[in-house]
Amino acid sequence: MKKILIIQKIHESGIELLRKRKDFTYEAIDNVEPELLKSQIQEFDGIAIRTAKLNSDLINKATKLKIISRHGVGYDNIDIESVKTRNITLAITGTANAAAVAEHVMFMILNISKGKEMYDKCVRAGEFKKRNQLPKVIELWNKKILIAGFGRVGQSLIKRCKGFEMDVYVIDPFVEKNKIQSLGGKKVDTIDSIVADIDYISLHIPINEKTKNMINFDLMKKMKNTCIIINTARGGIINEGDLNKALNENIIYGAGLDVFENEPPSNNNPLLKNKKVFLSPHTASFTEECMKRMGKETIQNIIDFFDKKLDKSMIVKL
Ligand SMILES: NC(=O)c1ccc[n+]([C@@H]2O[C@H](COP(=O)([O-])OP(=O)(O)OC[C@H]3O[C@@H](n4cnc5c(N)ncnc54)[C@H](O)[C@@H]3O)[C@@H](O)[C@H]2O)c1
Repeated sequence: MKKILIIQKIHESGIELLRKRKDFTYEAIDNVEPELLKSQIQEFDGIAIRTAKLNSDLINKATKLKIISRHGVGYDNIDIESVKTRNITLAITGTANAAAVAEHVMFMILNISKGKEMYDKCVRAGEFKKRNQLPKVIELWNKKILIAGFGRVGQSLIKRCKGFEMDVYVIDPFVEKNKIQSLGGKKVDTIDSIVADIDYISLHIPINEKTKNMINFDLMKKMKNTCIIINTARGGIINEGDLNKALNENIIYGAGLDVFENEPPSNNNPLLKNKKVFLSPHTASFTEECMKRMGKETIQNIIDFFDKKLDKSMIVKL
């Protein structure tokens, strides 16, 4: 009998998969206090986890643990060194959330370009006649977008951008030019070489030493003052202080942020008061459909692992 710990709420249809199996039991908990986790964790063979932290202390205490299954694709909440040392398999929901995140990018791009709720407010306020005096909105048609990172989300996004007849540039040193061209994009080798011509930038890369603060004030100074930057990847890839300054000094036009350097962001974070930013609370993948897919895939990965048929594409190469 395999014992699975589900840390934080996941969609019922995922849990249902475990209920159907006589050779698995599970416990689902919402309380992620490290001390509580530490007292329970040693009983479990597998863990399904959302955003709670699994530090080295917890992982080393979990002596039976064979698999950690992330509800999502990022895994910066898990201590990778201990996972490696202990030879634990780390799985992600590789096919579940790219479409939802790509749609969220379009939602942000459209909102910022079309003045958020401006038109709706105008009509409701009885100001229909002021329609000629409202601030200008812009089109996506024929605009240049740079997609940074051409993995699952980047490749899903390009299809949506092509649907809007945008001119798509892609930067990803690990993806072949032919692959990018086959989906209608143009490969660029450096951000610097293209950034002065770009209307939208959307980030789909991991955060690491190379990508931290990749979008900084110096780079923003090279952008068009109409440029809009969207970050649904990870906080810290854009330097938040620099972004706020660039927006206030009209160096760029706007930004859409789903992710933050610190989550939740502090109430003092000036971006929270900056009207040029469109915000969401790390919810790019929170569609009803995607939550269901992620819940199921998180649990299916655990079951497949113990059935010795876990798809390699779901396993993080460490
Ligand atoms: N907001 C959310 O809810 C949400 C949901 C899903 C994914 N994410 C985040 O979005 C990002 C992308 O996710 P994904 O599933 O597409 O990941 P992925 O691993 O499929 O793709 C990442 C791509 O980035 C490329 N890359 C790495 N370093 C790069 C660099 N310096 N410059 C350009 N390209 C680089 C890789 O070659 C890879 O193709 C990740 O950071 C992930 O954590 C956020």
